[in-house]
Order: sequence, then C-alpha cells, then structure tokens
Amino acid sequence: MSVLITNIGELVTNVPRDAVSVASPGPYAAIRDAALIMADGQVAWTGPASLAPEADESIDAAGRAVLPGFVDSHAHLVFAGERGAEFAARMAGQPYTAGGIRSTVAATRAASDDQLRANLARLAAEMLAQGTTTFECKSGYGLTVADEARSVALAAEVTPEVTYLGAHVPAPEFADDVAGYVELVCGDMLAACAPSARWVDVFCERGAFGADEARAVLSAGEASGLTARVHAGQLGPGPGVQVAVEAGAASADHCTFLSDADVDALASSGGTVATLLPGVEFSTRSPYPDARRLLAAGVTVAIASDCNPGSSFTSSMPLCVALAVREMRMTTQEAVWAATAGGAHALRRTDIGHLGVGATADLVLLDAPSHAYLAYRPGVPLVAGVWQAGVRVT
Ligand code: NIG
Ligand code: FE
Repeated sequence: MSVLITNIGELVTNVPRDAVSVASPGPYAAIRDAALIMADGQVAWTGPASLAPEADESIDAAGRAVLPGFVDSHAHLVFAGERGAEFAARMAGQPYTAGGIRSTVAATRAASDDQLRANLARLAAEMLAQGTTTFECKSGYGLTVADEARSVALAAEVTPEVTYLGAHVPAPEFADDVAGYVELVCGDMLAACAPSARWVDVFCERGAFGADEARAVLSAGEASGLTARVHAGQLGPGPGVQVAVEAGAASADHCTFLSDADVDALASSGGTVATLLPGVEFSTRSPYPDARRLLAAGVTVAIASDCNPGSSFTSSMPLCVALAVREMRMTTQEAVWAATAGGAHALRRTDIGHLGVGATADLVLLDAPSHAYLAYRPGVPLVAGVWQAGVRVT
C-alpha cells in the first residue's frame, strides 16, 4: 500500500536538490510546497506537491513541516531509580562529578528484569512521541557480568543500536583494582555482552578510565565484532578524542573540552563524528561545547540527548535542537541536520536521517510550518505525527 503526504509546507530531505536518492544522508536540504509518497516501509517519491503521483491513501499536511525522524545516537536507558535530589543539589550549587553513577548502579542491580523493561519501555515511548524514530541504548549501570549481560539483552529488545558500556566507571567492588576491572570488561563481561551488542563504548575521563585502559576496552570490543564509540572530554581536557579517532570510532561524544589537536583529529578522521549532548550542559550547568569551532573545521556534528538519570534526564530531541541553536549557536538548519543526518552518521546508518527515495520511511510531522519552530517555540509539543518504516505510530 502507498501513502501520499501532500501539501507539506517544508519537507526536510537532507538530499541534494539534483538527486532523488542518496547512498547516505547528504547535506541539509528541504523542498517547499512538497509531497512525499511512502510504500513498503520506504520513501518512494518526493518532490513538488503539484507533480505528485497518485497513491492508495492521501494525507493533507495543511502546510506543515515534515522532517526525517530524529536519530538519537546516545542514550543510557537501562537503569532503575532516579536522582532528582542530586539534580536539585546541583542547581543549589553542587558541582556534577559523575559520582552519582554508582547510586544508579545499586538501584539497577536491585531491580527485576521487568522493572528495568518497564522503565525502558516508558522512555522509548517518550522518545517516539517526541519524534525519535531511532535511538541508541547503552548498558553501563550493571557493572557485573550478569547485570551488564541483562542490560544489553533488554536494550536489544527495543533497538538494534545497542552499546556495551561495561567501562562506564569501575565497579564498586573493583575500586582498588581498576586493572582487574578492565580485565573483566575485556574478558568474561565482553563475551557475555557482545552477542547482544553492535557497539562498545568507554567513559575516557579522569575518575573513570585512562587512555590505555580505554584502548584496551575498544580493541577487545573490536576483536569481538563491536565498533567503537567513546565518551570523550565531558568533564575536562583529556585523551578521549585522540583515543576515539585512533580506534576508528564512529563517534566521540560530549566533546565539551577540546584541544586544537582534538579538533584537527576529528576533522581529518574521515569517520569519527563529534556528538554533542547539550542536555548535559543544561542539566549540569556547565559551559556548552564549541559547536562553531567544530563546524568551522569541517567536523561532522551530531546532536543527541544522552538521556540518563544523572547528567541529562531528557528524552527530547526537540529540546536538544533548541539548546543547540540558542546555546551553541548552531543555525536551525545545522541543528536539525545534526539531530537527523548527523545521528545517522554517528550510527553508521545510511537508511535513516534523510528522506531520499529508498530511505526508511521514518518521519515526523510538525504542527508548525518550518523546522525552525523547534527552536523558535522551545518546550512546546510540536510533534503532530510520527511514522516508522511507513507505519503511523503516533
Ligand atoms: O554521558 N559520562 C558518563 N555517563 C553519563 C552520565 C551518567 C550518569 O550521571 O549517570 C553521561 O553523561
Ligand atoms: Fe553518556
């Protein structure tokens, strides 16, 4: 069955004007007064509404905007408990230290599979309602072989983009033996998690894991068929970005603290995206990453939520777009591109993040005439409809 959406005021395609289909998301591009046809779960046609062919069913967008579904390439959704008091204390002047991760680890270990599954389902539903049609999900609040294995298995029930983050922080049992913990992460824990995961991640930061430890984790992951991604430069300057680029990581995430050499390394990496997580700076009251410096250097930039109970408890990509525009001085086009095509690049996906013919028909209808309203009307629920693989889900 084919479905036509017509009378679209602005159709963001991320497909260059002279092409109808692309091998992977292209630069920002949009068509005015457009229409789109989906069939068999894919985009079958896009162009001016006046030229649209017939379809089995027709939907009138009434001049509103249609975008590729958001691709949230960084989220930690397998956890129990919450840290509202830690947030309140931070807003009263306490610094963020990532020390709270351990309290979420304790709550997660104590939770049943069904409790974790229910929390995960609630967050995934929140994301979908806000236009996120693909999300990545990390483990990292279990930190034992059994708890990490069940975390990745639960994540795999809701997304193909599962990341093994046994190297989130050293498990409390290994506080005095970080080397022993790294050995576990690279050994039995990896063996138990790799079958459910696509990615391996490490929090490379003072207080978490150093450069050599991070390299060990990433290369063990790679030997088990996982591709690297790295938490880099969140809390201070460090080796994370260099380690990420050396490892051929798909993404270096946070990038709040960057040296000139880090920016150069990302720019010449040929495949390591800088994923910026403005919900973290908002929720930890920290300085935002310098997106303009990265963009000026030609680095591919993605935006993601980092949804987690500590540093960024938002599942909202529209909020992240608004923050990227207002606080990181990205243009509305750059921010929307980063939240769609950028996320697809960060997940090395060619089928999402754009609306070229043949792309997966993941799309968002906004109750607004243009993508700019995501930042122009911050905090307003503008998502009026969501399609996943051509099926209307909200
Ligand atoms: O991406 N940086 C480490 N991990 C999370 C924080 C997790 C937490 O505070 O629970 C992050 O910000
Ligand atoms: Fe994170």
